[in-house]
Amino acid sequence: MSKINFSEFDKWNKEKVLITGGAGFIGSNLARRIVDLGGEVTIVDSLIPDYGGNLYNLDGYESKLNINFSDIRDKYSMEYLLKNKSIIFNLAGQTSHLDSMLNPHTDLEINCIAQLSLLESCRKLNPSARIIFTSTRQIYGKPSYLPVNENHKINPVDINGIHKLSTELYLKLYNQIYGLNTSILRLTNTIGPRMRIKDARQTFLGIWIKNLIQGTPLEVWGGEQIRDFNDVDDVVDALIICAKNQNVLSTPYNLGSSEPIKLLDLAKKMIKIYGKGEIKYMEYPKVRKKIDIGDYYSCYKKFKNHSGWDPKNNLDNTLEKTLNYYSKNFKFYK
Ligand SMILES: NC(=O)c1ccc[n+]([C@@H]2O[C@H](COP(=O)([O-])OP(=O)(O)OC[C@H]3O[C@@H](n4cnc5c(N)ncnc54)[C@H](O)[C@@H]3O)[C@@H](O)[C@H]2O)c1
Repeated sequence: MSKINFSEFDKWNKEKVLITGGAGFIGSNLARRIVDLGGEVTIVDSLIPDYGGNLYNLDGYESKLNINFSDIRDKYSMEYLLKNKSIIFNLAGQTSHLDSMLNPHTDLEINCIAQLSLLESCRKLNPSARIIFTSTRQIYGKPSYLPVNENHKINPVDINGIHKLSTELYLKLYNQIYGLNTSILRLTNTIGPRMRIKDARQTFLGIWIKNLIQGTPLEVWGGEQIRDFNDVDDVVDALIICAKNQNVLSTPYNLGSSEPIKLLDLAKKMIKIYGKGEIKYMEYPKVRKKIDIGDYYSCYKKFKNHSGWDPKNNLDNTLEKTLNYYSKNFKFYK
């Protein structure tokens, strides 16, 4: 069991890093951090309209990293890009659960086929690269106990969950059979600056931020559901650990928070922190009910024990930081 020692992860010495989905929410925060630590970062992002990519996320860093506007479904671009990289953070994805039900084949192409191609390319061209994949809590489906740990049964309730799970299994297989250095993090709701707030595709919380800033009511559907939230900076810490720590190879790990909260309480908390706002109660929409998982929060003990990671930011601070960011930068995200 090793305790986290961040100074040991702070040495990037121009290490060559590829971040797929690097113009998106988590990818851009990760890219900015690694550039600050001295890594040589290349981003690949397709900027598909309606997905989470936003070039403003890289504001001030444009000349400090390489940005490549390719699609991860383009095998030949990806082969070229991944060849000489020692670390590949594979974050690009179709992230909307509802969209995955409406356009299952697109989700399959991006979240499965492109992922398998990337692994095949690594196997042939760059077998020593460290490959870190961001999976999702959604693969567990409706929890049968809380907090959900990695032993919980796997039962995805939507197409996106099935495809993320398939990629986890590809990674596991390529680790076992070909010895690729793969790491898997199962993320819970991640929030912070640079998240998508235009619509609810990434999370309902984005829309709530937009509502607060525009002075429109926060729609609370039901409100009794419990969720946990990680600050994006804590998620970036976890990704960096996966890139550098040999203890956390191959087996999937949950991230999570020790502050689960009911959504109605979260809405009230956001209004309190922002200083104004109102709530509009709504019935839970039927189309979403079918893929809703009810209450969820994660147990992240296994990752904590193996790596020393523990979220440093509490929910209040994260919400305050995020609301401040969007108060200042709203025009780039609406
Ligand atoms: N944010 C969360 O709460 C959360 C929770 C669980 C898992 N995840 C996972 O973390 C990863 C990052 O999520 P995020 O919140 O930053 O999402 P995001 O939508 O902000 O970022 C994803 C990025 O991938 C890019 N992308 C999508 N399809 C692409 C393609 N075919 N080729 C190249 N680029 C493409 C998008 O343009 C976007 O910039 C995703 O894999 C997601 O499934 C996120």
